[in-house]
Amino acid sequence: MREHKHDWTSIYRQYGVRNITQLVNKTGGIRATGRLLHLNESTIRHKIASEETDSLNKPQTIFYFTDTHVQPKLETDHLGWIAKHIKEINPDYIINGGDFADAESLCSHILPHTLDARQKPSLKSDIACMEDAMLMISELSGRRDIHVTLGNHEERIWTMEKNNPDLAYLLQERFDGAYEKAGWTYTKFGVYHTLCGVDFTHAPMMMSGKPVGGKLSVNNVASNSVADCVYGHTHMKAELSVKKFGPDRQTTAINGGCSMPIGYIPKYVQGGSSGWWHGVIEIEVQNGRIQDTTFISLEKLKKLYA
Ligand SMILES: [Fe+2]
Ligand SMILES: [Fe+2]
Repeated sequence: MREHKHDWTSIYRQYGVRNITQLVNKTGGIRATGRLLHLNESTIRHKIASEETDSLNKPQTIFYFTDTHVQPKLETDHLGWIAKHIKEINPDYIINGGDFADAESLCSHILPHTLDARQKPSLKSDIACMEDAMLMISELSGRRDIHVTLGNHEERIWTMEKNNPDLAYLLQERFDGAYEKAGWTYTKFGVYHTLCGVDFTHAPMMMSGKPVGGKLSVNNVASNSVADCVYGHTHMKAELSVKKFGPDRQTTAINGGCSMPIGYIPKYVQGGSSGWWHGVIEIEVQNGRIQDTTFISLEKLKKLYA
């Protein structure tokens, strides 16, 4: 059957998705999508390619929030404001920049004999509150197509399994179960998720194998990236475009602050300097580049939705 005979809008509506890539993810692959729609694989591949080309040419809005560090006992009202804002602006894509879950239960910096260790949440409650927060955001925003570029905090799941091979895949299975239930997807820590020509990752990795950091990281990322890049991790807010040699060549980097509750400072930072920014970003991309950026503070979202 030829592609033009298909009413893709109706198909997407029927399956609760916004594009062919989401449908392929939802059905479990290109072949499964083909079987579902009675189309051959090459038609599905052609549709994916044509939508990718369209998405590069047409302006697309990407809603970005990062570093929520969800954990038991930490309030989540602000995540409700974020979800309501997502519903209000109805972006084309939603990306969370990672460290969505704090996963303190797996923190290796806390030594087992210390008072801090006694106050740590259990892994079970850590994952349960992550799952609750995901479901709440999806319910209030009406969106399940949320992609997370996992951070170093989620990476603790994999590190724990590597160091304790008897647990291999057990923690991951529970973690993946929460994502499947919410309908969210993820990219592993350190990996790039490229959307409309723009790279998203929790933190670009330096040659040392460590994530970029420091207050001037945005300069490092804009100078050393080959495409526009949006990242989190430092919890600071910054945007910088760096001109490159040649006509019309520049690279933009955005450091997305954090979406922890306003005023919340974790134990490990108390007494030190933070300078964190609490907010979310609407990013408009076109022709493979970031065209417009709107930073919105959690204070503003509170006034709008609390
Ligand atoms: Fe973080
Ligand atoms: Fe991080």
